Amino acid sequence: MDSALAQMDFETARALYEWQVELGVDEAIGDDPVNRYEAEAERHATEVQAAMAARPAAPSAPPQPEPVDAAAAAAVAAARAATLEDLASCQGAFDLCDLKKGARNFVFADGNPEARVMIIGEAPGRDEDIEGRPFVGRAGQLLDRMFAAIGLSRVAHHPDEAIYITNIMPWRPPQNRDPEAAEIAMMLPFVQRHVELARPDLIVLMGNTACAAALGKRGITRLRGNWTQAFDRPALPMNHPAHLLRTPSAKREAWADLLSLKAKLNGLP
Ligand code: URA
Repeated sequence: MDSALAQMDFETARALYEWQVELGVDEAIGDDPVNRYEAEAERHATEVQAAMAARPAAPSAPPQPEPVDAAAAAAVAAARAATLEDLASCQGAFDLCDLKKGARNFVFADGNPEARVMIIGEAPGRDEDIEGRPFVGRAGQLLDRMFAAIGLSRVAHHPDEAIYITNIMPWRPPQNRDPEAAEIAMMLPFVQRHVELARPDLIVLMGNTACAAALGKRGITRLRGNWTQAFDRPALPMNHPAHLLRTPSAKREAWADLLSLKAKLNGLP
């Protein structure tokens, strides 16, 4: 007890007591203050804990499937293909690429698979999606004229005079957007196997997407016309014919690249 209170005389203590009763005090409390808010919070927490303990156990969440590594799955599927027909059917059946859902057709290849020159483009556009063949729209018609100028054609029977054409993506991206890095990575094992099975002497990488996939680099303006290696073969990056349609002044460089291709073909055994 407070020492001032202990020394208080009876009359003073009584007067204080009566004054408190007058104020409405009706309960004697302890010396230490009580935090009513804390006490309420504690009571609530205890009730919640009790309610939780009484609850029936929630059913455990169903096991989630492991995330699928689509590029690894593609590599396994592609490695199993022993022929180009096998490859077309296993790539066409590959379901992990969302582009497939929005495309009308699977676009695998066109031309002569025996050709010494294999052209790798980007992805089907509207016309290719409708027909199921690569490079059949305006850009494809220009591509045919370009290669005809050096004596090569997709309908030629002799491998020396023929071209074989495919794309990195076999399904049309919506609104012809650029394929995403993950989509390219997913299709790369199929393209790699496509090259292994077709066994061309030379590869033409048409535009940035083909360079990104085969070389891991973009920047076609700098890359074009410079021979490099892709899929263990000599490869020539070239401006995409769609770019040449928009930029006719780039046709001069394309012609130089075609002559370089012809010279390389003639120089090879
Ligand atoms: N552009 C491409 O890269 N490929 C096609 O098949 C058509 C247009």
